[in-house]
Amino acid sequence: MNINPLLEKLSLGEIELNNRVVMAPMTRSRADNSENTPTDLHAKYYRQRASAGLIITEGSQISKKAVGYINTPGIYSQAQIDGWKKVTEAVHEKGGKVFIQIWHVGRISHPDFHNGELPLAPSAINPQSKSFTPKGFKETVTPKEMSLEEIHQTIQDFKMAGKNAMEAGFDGIEIHASNGYLLHQFSSRTSNVRTDGYGGSIENRARILFEIIDALKGVMPENKIGVRLNPSLHGIFGMTMDEESIPTFDYIIEKLNEYNLAYLHLSEPFSDVSELPYAVTEIAKRYRSMYKGILIINGDFDQEKGNRFILEGLADAVAFGKPYVSNPDLVERFSQDTPLQDWDQRTFYTPGKKGYTDYPKLKSEKVK
Ligand SMILES: Cc1cc2nc3c(=O)[nH]c(=O)nc-3n(C[C@H](O)[C@H](O)[C@H](O)COP(=O)(O)O)c2cc1C
Repeated sequence: MNINPLLEKLSLGEIELNNRVVMAPMTRSRADNSENTPTDLHAKYYRQRASAGLIITEGSQISKKAVGYINTPGIYSQAQIDGWKKVTEAVHEKGGKVFIQIWHVGRISHPDFHNGELPLAPSAINPQSKSFTPKGFKETVTPKEMSLEEIHQTIQDFKMAGKNAMEAGFDGIEIHASNGYLLHQFSSRTSNVRTDGYGGSIENRARILFEIIDALKGVMPENKIGVRLNPSLHGIFGMTMDEESIPTFDYIIEKLNEYNLAYLHLSEPFSDVSELPYAVTEIAKRYRSMYKGILIINGDFDQEKGNRFILEGLADAVAFGKPYVSNPDLVERFSQDTPLQDWDQRTFYTPGKKGYTDYPKLKSEKVK
Protein backbone atom coordinates (compact mmCIF):
# COMPACT_ATOMS: atom_id res chain seq x y z
CA MET A 1 0.00 0.00 0.00
CA ASN A 2 1.31 3.43 -0.97
CA ILE A 3 1.54 5.55 2.17
CA ASN A 4 1.96 8.79 0.25
CA PRO A 5 -0.98 8.94 -2.15
CA LEU A 6 -0.66 12.74 -2.11
CA LEU A 7 2.45 12.28 -4.24
CA GLU A 8 0.74 10.23 -6.95
CA LYS A 9 -0.05 11.70 -10.36
CA LEU A 10 -3.54 12.85 -11.27
CA SER A 11 -5.19 13.60 -14.61
CA LEU A 12 -7.12 16.84 -14.69
CA GLY A 13 -8.93 17.28 -17.96
CA GLU A 14 -6.19 17.05 -20.53
CA ILE A 15 -3.34 17.92 -18.20
CA GLU A 16 -1.39 15.63 -15.94
CA LEU A 17 -0.55 16.80 -12.43
CA ASN A 18 2.75 15.55 -11.00
CA ASN A 19 1.08 15.02 -7.63
CA ARG A 20 -2.12 15.67 -5.71
CA VAL A 21 -0.78 18.51 -3.59
CA VAL A 22 -2.58 21.69 -4.62
CA MET A 23 -1.62 25.21 -3.60
CA ALA A 24 -4.86 26.85 -2.42
CA PRO A 25 -5.75 30.31 -3.70
CA MET A 26 -4.36 32.97 -1.38
CA THR A 27 -4.62 36.73 -1.60
CA ARG A 28 -1.20 38.19 -0.83
CA SER A 29 -1.74 41.85 -1.79
CA ARG A 30 1.55 42.36 -3.60
CA ALA A 31 0.12 44.00 -6.74
CA ASP A 32 0.87 47.40 -5.24
CA ASN A 33 1.06 49.34 -8.47
CA SER A 34 -1.45 51.70 -10.07
CA GLU A 35 -2.73 49.05 -12.52
CA ASN A 36 -2.90 46.15 -10.04
CA THR A 37 -0.61 44.17 -12.27
CA PRO A 38 1.31 41.03 -11.25
CA THR A 39 5.04 41.73 -11.13
CA ASP A 40 8.36 39.88 -11.27
CA LEU A 41 7.93 39.30 -7.55
CA HIS A 42 4.71 37.37 -8.23
CA ALA A 43 6.55 35.28 -10.82
CA LYS A 44 9.26 34.49 -8.28
CA TYR A 45 6.73 33.56 -5.56
CA TYR A 46 4.81 31.19 -7.80
CA ARG A 47 7.97 29.73 -9.36
CA GLN A 48 9.21 28.84 -5.89
CA ARG A 49 6.01 26.81 -5.37
CA ALA A 50 5.89 25.17 -8.81
CA SER A 51 6.47 21.64 -7.52
CA ALA A 52 2.85 21.64 -6.36
CA GLY A 53 0.75 19.37 -8.59
CA LEU A 54 -1.41 22.43 -9.22
CA ILE A 55 -1.16 26.06 -8.17
CA ILE A 56 -4.38 28.04 -7.90
CA THR A 57 -3.48 31.72 -7.83
CA GLU A 58 -4.80 34.35 -5.49
CA GLY A 59 -8.25 35.72 -6.27
CA SER A 60 -7.99 38.11 -9.23
CA GLN A 61 -10.71 40.64 -9.92
CA ILE A 62 -12.56 40.31 -13.21
CA SER A 63 -13.21 44.06 -13.50
CA LYS A 64 -12.67 47.31 -11.64
CA LYS A 65 -16.08 46.86 -10.04
CA ALA A 66 -15.15 43.42 -8.71
CA VAL A 67 -12.33 44.59 -6.44
CA GLY A 68 -12.60 44.64 -2.66
CA TYR A 69 -9.09 44.50 -1.22
CA ILE A 70 -6.04 46.65 -1.67
CA ASN A 71 -3.28 45.57 -4.03
CA THR A 72 -5.00 42.47 -5.41
CA PRO A 73 -4.19 41.73 -9.06
CA GLY A 74 -6.76 41.92 -11.83
CA ILE A 75 -7.27 39.95 -15.03
CA TYR A 76 -9.11 42.51 -17.15
CA SER A 77 -6.39 44.74 -18.69
CA GLN A 78 -3.61 44.06 -21.18
CA ALA A 79 -0.98 45.08 -18.61
CA GLN A 80 -2.40 42.52 -16.19
CA ILE A 81 -2.45 39.79 -18.87
CA ASP A 82 1.20 40.59 -19.61
CA GLY A 83 2.04 40.49 -15.91
CA TRP A 84 0.37 37.10 -15.51
CA LYS A 85 2.29 35.78 -18.53
CA LYS A 86 5.47 36.08 -16.46
CA VAL A 87 3.83 33.94 -13.78
CA THR A 88 2.58 31.20 -16.10
CA GLU A 89 5.92 31.05 -17.91
CA ALA A 90 7.80 30.77 -14.62
CA VAL A 91 5.58 27.94 -13.35
CA HIS A 92 5.63 26.07 -16.66
CA GLU A 93 9.41 26.37 -16.89
CA LYS A 94 9.57 24.45 -13.63
CA GLY A 95 7.15 21.79 -14.89
CA GLY A 96 4.18 23.01 -12.83
CA LYS A 97 0.55 23.75 -13.69
CA VAL A 98 -1.37 26.86 -12.76
CA PHE A 99 -5.02 27.95 -12.72
CA ILE A 100 -6.08 31.52 -11.97
CA GLN A 101 -8.86 32.15 -9.49
CA ILE A 102 -11.30 34.72 -10.88
CA TRP A 103 -13.51 36.64 -8.45
CA HIS A 104 -15.94 39.41 -7.78
CA VAL A 105 -16.26 40.30 -4.10
CA GLY A 106 -19.74 41.86 -4.34
CA ARG A 107 -20.89 43.44 -1.09
CA ILE A 108 -17.58 42.83 0.72
CA SER A 109 -16.19 45.81 -1.20
CA HIS A 110 -16.44 49.45 -0.12
CA PRO A 111 -17.27 52.83 -1.77
CA ASP A 112 -13.62 53.83 -1.23
CA PHE A 113 -12.73 51.50 -4.11
CA HIS A 114 -15.39 52.93 -6.44
CA ASN A 115 -15.06 56.72 -6.26
CA GLY A 116 -17.73 56.80 -3.58
CA GLU A 117 -20.23 54.60 -5.44
CA LEU A 118 -21.82 51.66 -3.67
CA PRO A 119 -20.47 48.16 -4.23
CA LEU A 120 -22.72 45.77 -6.19
CA ALA A 121 -24.55 42.79 -4.71
CA PRO A 122 -27.60 40.63 -5.37
CA SER A 123 -29.60 42.60 -2.79
CA ALA A 124 -29.22 45.75 -0.71
CA ILE A 125 -28.24 43.93 2.49
CA ASN A 126 -25.20 44.96 4.51
CA PRO A 127 -23.04 41.92 5.38
CA GLN A 128 -22.08 43.69 8.65
CA SER A 129 -18.51 42.71 8.00
CA LYS A 130 -15.21 44.51 7.45
CA SER A 131 -13.74 45.79 4.23
CA PHE A 132 -9.97 46.09 3.79
CA THR A 133 -9.75 49.52 2.09
CA PRO A 134 -6.82 51.72 1.10
CA LYS A 135 -7.45 53.56 4.38
CA GLY A 136 -7.48 50.45 6.54
CA PHE A 137 -10.34 48.26 7.77
CA LYS A 138 -13.77 49.89 7.53
CA GLU A 139 -17.30 48.72 8.25
CA THR A 140 -19.06 47.39 5.16
CA VAL A 141 -22.01 49.37 3.80
CA THR A 142 -25.43 48.52 2.39
CA PRO A 143 -24.59 47.66 -1.24
CA LYS A 144 -26.55 48.49 -4.39
CA GLU A 145 -28.89 45.77 -5.67
CA MET A 146 -27.62 44.79 -9.11
CA SER A 147 -29.84 45.56 -12.07
CA LEU A 148 -30.38 42.83 -14.66
CA GLU A 149 -28.03 44.75 -16.92
CA GLU A 150 -25.33 44.73 -14.23
CA ILE A 151 -25.79 40.98 -13.76
CA HIS A 152 -25.42 40.37 -17.48
CA GLN A 153 -22.36 42.62 -17.59
CA THR A 154 -20.81 40.68 -14.70
CA ILE A 155 -21.32 37.41 -16.56
CA GLN A 156 -19.58 38.96 -19.57
CA ASP A 157 -16.76 40.16 -17.30
CA PHE A 158 -16.23 36.60 -16.04
CA LYS A 159 -16.17 35.41 -19.65
CA MET A 160 -13.62 38.06 -20.62
CA ALA A 161 -11.49 37.14 -17.60
CA GLY A 162 -11.48 33.54 -18.84
CA LYS A 163 -10.44 34.64 -22.31
CA ASN A 164 -7.69 36.81 -20.84
CA ALA A 165 -6.53 33.91 -18.66
CA MET A 166 -6.11 31.76 -21.77
CA GLU A 167 -4.11 34.54 -23.42
CA ALA A 168 -1.91 34.78 -20.32
CA GLY A 169 -1.09 31.08 -20.63
CA PHE A 170 -2.99 29.64 -17.68
CA ASP A 171 -3.84 25.93 -17.68
CA GLY A 172 -7.33 26.82 -16.52
CA ILE A 173 -9.43 29.05 -14.29
CA GLU A 174 -11.18 28.60 -10.96
CA ILE A 175 -14.49 30.41 -10.45
CA HIS A 176 -14.50 31.79 -6.92
CA ALA A 177 -18.03 30.96 -5.79
CA SER A 178 -17.17 30.57 -2.12
CA ASN A 179 -16.20 32.43 1.05
CA GLY A 180 -19.06 34.92 1.04
CA TYR A 181 -18.18 36.72 -2.21
CA LEU A 182 -20.55 37.67 -5.03
CA LEU A 183 -21.55 34.21 -6.28
CA HIS A 184 -21.93 32.88 -2.74
CA GLN A 185 -24.04 35.97 -1.98
CA PHE A 186 -26.33 35.07 -4.87
CA SER A 187 -26.77 31.48 -3.71
CA SER A 188 -27.66 32.32 -0.12
CA ARG A 189 -31.18 33.25 0.94
CA THR A 190 -29.90 35.65 3.61
CA SER A 191 -27.96 37.78 1.10
CA ASN A 192 -30.28 37.37 -1.88
CA VAL A 193 -33.93 38.43 -1.55
CA ARG A 194 -34.44 39.23 -5.24
CA THR A 195 -37.80 38.52 -6.80
CA ASP A 196 -36.64 38.14 -10.42
CA GLY A 197 -35.03 35.19 -12.19
CA TYR A 198 -31.92 35.44 -9.99
CA GLY A 199 -33.67 35.18 -6.61
CA GLY A 200 -36.35 33.26 -4.76
CA SER A 201 -36.04 29.56 -5.62
CA ILE A 202 -32.84 27.56 -5.25
CA GLU A 203 -32.62 27.27 -9.05
CA ASN A 204 -32.88 31.04 -9.42
CA ARG A 205 -30.25 31.77 -6.77
CA ALA A 206 -27.83 29.33 -8.43
CA ARG A 207 -28.58 30.62 -11.94
CA ILE A 208 -25.76 33.17 -12.25
CA LEU A 209 -23.07 30.56 -11.53
CA PHE A 210 -24.31 28.31 -14.33
CA GLU A 211 -24.69 31.22 -16.72
CA ILE A 212 -21.06 32.12 -15.99
CA ILE A 213 -19.92 28.57 -16.68
CA ASP A 214 -21.94 28.52 -19.91
CA ALA A 215 -20.41 31.85 -20.96
CA LEU A 216 -16.88 30.66 -20.15
CA LYS A 217 -17.44 27.59 -22.31
CA GLY A 218 -17.49 29.98 -25.25
CA VAL A 219 -13.86 30.93 -24.69
CA MET A 220 -12.25 27.80 -23.25
CA PRO A 221 -12.86 24.08 -22.98
CA GLU A 222 -15.10 23.01 -20.10
CA ASN A 223 -12.34 20.84 -18.71
CA LYS A 224 -10.23 23.91 -17.95
CA ILE A 225 -12.87 25.33 -15.62
CA GLY A 226 -12.85 24.63 -11.89
CA VAL A 227 -15.40 25.81 -9.32
CA ARG A 228 -14.79 26.59 -5.65
CA LEU A 229 -17.54 26.33 -3.02
CA ASN A 230 -17.62 26.57 0.77
CA PRO A 231 -20.99 25.02 1.70
CA SER A 232 -20.76 25.28 5.50
CA LEU A 233 -19.44 28.82 5.86
CA HIS A 234 -21.22 30.45 8.78
CA GLY A 235 -20.58 33.65 10.72
CA ILE A 236 -17.66 34.61 8.45
CA PHE A 237 -17.65 37.21 5.64
CA GLY A 238 -21.23 38.02 6.50
CA MET A 239 -22.60 34.59 5.61
CA THR A 240 -25.37 32.99 7.64
CA MET A 241 -26.58 29.45 7.03
CA ASP A 242 -30.26 28.59 7.02
CA GLU A 243 -32.37 25.51 6.34
CA GLU A 244 -32.01 25.99 2.58
CA SER A 245 -28.22 26.28 2.54
CA ILE A 246 -27.50 22.59 2.21
CA PRO A 247 -30.31 21.86 -0.26
CA THR A 248 -28.90 24.76 -2.30
CA PHE A 249 -25.38 23.30 -2.35
CA ASP A 250 -26.79 19.83 -3.04
CA TYR A 251 -28.58 21.27 -6.07
CA ILE A 252 -25.49 23.14 -7.30
CA ILE A 253 -23.17 20.17 -6.90
CA GLU A 254 -25.60 17.73 -8.54
CA LYS A 255 -25.99 20.13 -11.45
CA LEU A 256 -22.22 20.56 -11.83
CA ASN A 257 -22.24 16.89 -12.82
CA GLU A 258 -23.86 17.95 -16.09
CA TYR A 259 -20.56 19.64 -17.00
CA ASN A 260 -17.19 18.09 -17.74
CA LEU A 261 -15.31 20.46 -15.43
CA ALA A 262 -11.64 20.30 -14.47
CA TYR A 263 -12.64 19.92 -10.84
CA LEU A 264 -14.83 20.92 -7.94
CA HIS A 265 -12.91 22.51 -5.06
CA LEU A 266 -14.63 22.31 -1.66
CA SER A 267 -13.65 23.54 1.78
CA GLU A 268 -14.40 21.79 5.05
CA PRO A 269 -16.11 24.18 7.50
CA PHE A 270 -13.88 27.12 8.49
CA SER A 271 -15.42 27.20 11.99
CA ASP A 272 -17.11 24.78 14.37
CA VAL A 273 -20.61 24.26 12.95
CA SER A 274 -21.44 21.13 14.92
CA GLU A 275 -24.12 22.92 16.95
CA LEU A 276 -25.83 24.37 13.88
CA PRO A 277 -28.92 22.46 12.84
CA TYR A 278 -28.48 23.44 9.19
CA ALA A 279 -24.79 22.74 8.59
CA VAL A 280 -22.92 19.79 7.14
CA THR A 281 -19.94 19.10 9.39
CA GLU A 282 -18.08 16.76 7.02
CA ILE A 283 -18.08 18.23 3.56
CA ALA A 284 -16.01 15.65 1.66
CA LYS A 285 -18.00 12.81 3.21
CA ARG A 286 -21.28 14.27 1.98
CA TYR A 287 -20.24 15.47 -1.43
CA ARG A 288 -17.74 12.84 -2.61
CA SER A 289 -20.49 10.45 -3.58
CA MET A 290 -22.64 13.21 -5.05
CA TYR A 291 -19.98 14.74 -7.33
CA LYS A 292 -18.78 12.49 -10.15
CA GLY A 293 -15.72 14.46 -11.30
CA ILE A 294 -12.38 15.36 -9.72
CA LEU A 295 -12.80 16.62 -6.16
CA ILE A 296 -10.23 18.83 -4.41
CA ILE A 297 -10.71 19.22 -0.67
CA ASN A 298 -9.29 21.97 1.55
CA GLY A 299 -9.31 23.31 5.07
CA ASP A 300 -6.77 22.70 7.80
CA PHE A 301 -5.17 19.61 6.24
CA ASP A 302 -1.75 18.21 7.02
CA GLN A 303 0.09 15.46 5.20
CA GLU A 304 -1.34 12.64 7.28
CA LYS A 305 -4.93 13.80 6.94
CA GLY A 306 -4.49 14.53 3.24
CA ASN A 307 -3.12 11.05 2.57
CA ARG A 308 -5.94 9.51 4.56
CA PHE A 309 -8.65 11.38 2.64
CA ILE A 310 -7.20 10.26 -0.69
CA LEU A 311 -6.72 6.71 0.51
CA GLU A 312 -10.31 6.56 1.78
CA GLY A 313 -11.59 7.90 -1.53
CA LEU A 314 -12.94 11.10 0.03
CA ALA A 315 -11.08 13.36 -2.40
CA ASP A 316 -8.75 13.18 -5.40
CA ALA A 317 -6.43 16.00 -4.32
CA VAL A 318 -5.89 18.26 -1.31
CA ALA A 319 -5.40 22.04 -1.38
CA PHE A 320 -3.06 23.50 1.23
CA GLY A 321 -3.26 27.19 2.03
CA LYS A 322 -1.22 28.49 4.96
CA PRO A 323 1.35 25.66 4.76
CA TYR A 324 2.17 26.98 1.28
CA VAL A 325 2.82 30.47 2.56
CA SER A 326 5.85 29.30 4.52
CA ASN A 327 6.85 26.09 2.72
CA PRO A 328 7.52 26.76 -0.95
CA ASP A 329 8.84 23.19 -1.23
CA LEU A 330 5.88 21.56 0.51
CA VAL A 331 5.95 18.59 -1.87
CA GLU A 332 9.63 17.89 -1.19
CA ARG A 333 8.99 18.18 2.54
CA PHE A 334 6.15 15.67 2.25
CA SER A 335 8.28 13.25 0.28
CA GLN A 336 11.17 13.50 2.75
CA ASP A 337 8.99 13.64 5.84
CA THR A 338 10.58 16.92 6.90
CA PRO A 339 8.91 19.20 9.45
CA LEU A 340 7.15 22.24 8.11
CA GLN A 341 8.09 25.87 8.77
CA ASP A 342 5.58 28.12 10.54
CA TRP A 343 3.94 30.97 8.69
CA ASP A 344 3.96 34.55 9.88
CA GLN A 345 0.46 35.96 9.74
CA ARG A 346 1.73 39.52 10.05
CA THR A 347 3.15 39.43 6.51
CA PHE A 348 0.20 37.74 4.76
CA TYR A 349 -0.91 41.00 3.12
CA THR A 350 2.07 43.36 3.45
CA PRO A 351 4.00 44.65 0.44
CA GLY A 352 7.35 43.33 -0.70
CA LYS A 353 9.28 40.11 -0.40
CA LYS A 354 9.27 39.80 3.39
CA GLY A 355 7.06 36.87 4.32
CA TYR A 356 6.45 36.28 0.61
CA THR A 357 9.51 35.06 -1.27
CA ASP A 358 11.98 34.77 1.60
CA TYR A 359 10.90 31.48 3.22
CA PRO A 360 13.87 29.15 2.76
CA LYS A 361 13.68 25.80 1.04
CA LEU A 362 15.11 22.60 2.47
CA LYS A 363 18.88 22.25 2.94
CA SER A 364 18.95 26.03 2.72
CA GLU A 365 18.66 25.56 -1.04
CA LYS A 366 18.90 28.95 -2.63
CA VAL A 367 15.49 30.13 -3.72
CA LYS A 368 15.95 31.39 -7.23
C1 LIG B 1 -3.55 34.77 3.42
C2 LIG B 1 -4.76 34.05 2.89
C3 LIG B 1 -5.39 34.51 1.76
C4 LIG B 1 -6.47 33.82 1.22
N1 LIG B 1 -7.03 34.26 0.04
C5 LIG B 1 -7.96 33.50 -0.60
C6 LIG B 1 -8.38 33.82 -1.92
O1 LIG B 1 -7.93 34.78 -2.57
N2 LIG B 1 -9.32 33.01 -2.47
C7 LIG B 1 -9.85 31.94 -1.82
O2 LIG B 1 -10.71 31.23 -2.37
N3 LIG B 1 -9.44 31.60 -0.58
C8 LIG B 1 -8.50 32.34 0.03
N4 LIG B 1 -8.02 31.96 1.26
C9 LIG B 1 -8.50 30.70 1.85
C10 LIG B 1 -7.55 29.54 1.51
O3 LIG B 1 -7.60 29.24 0.14
C11 LIG B 1 -7.91 28.28 2.31
O4 LIG B 1 -9.23 27.92 2.01
C12 LIG B 1 -7.78 28.47 3.82
O5 LIG B 1 -6.56 29.08 4.15
C13 LIG B 1 -7.88 27.14 4.55
O6 LIG B 1 -6.87 26.24 4.13
P1 LIG B 1 -5.56 25.98 5.05
O7 LIG B 1 -6.09 25.50 6.38
O8 LIG B 1 -4.78 24.94 4.33
O9 LIG B 1 -4.85 27.29 5.19
C14 LIG B 1 -6.97 32.65 1.84
C15 LIG B 1 -6.34 32.21 3.02
C16 LIG B 1 -5.24 32.88 3.53
C17 LIG B 1 -4.55 32.34 4.75
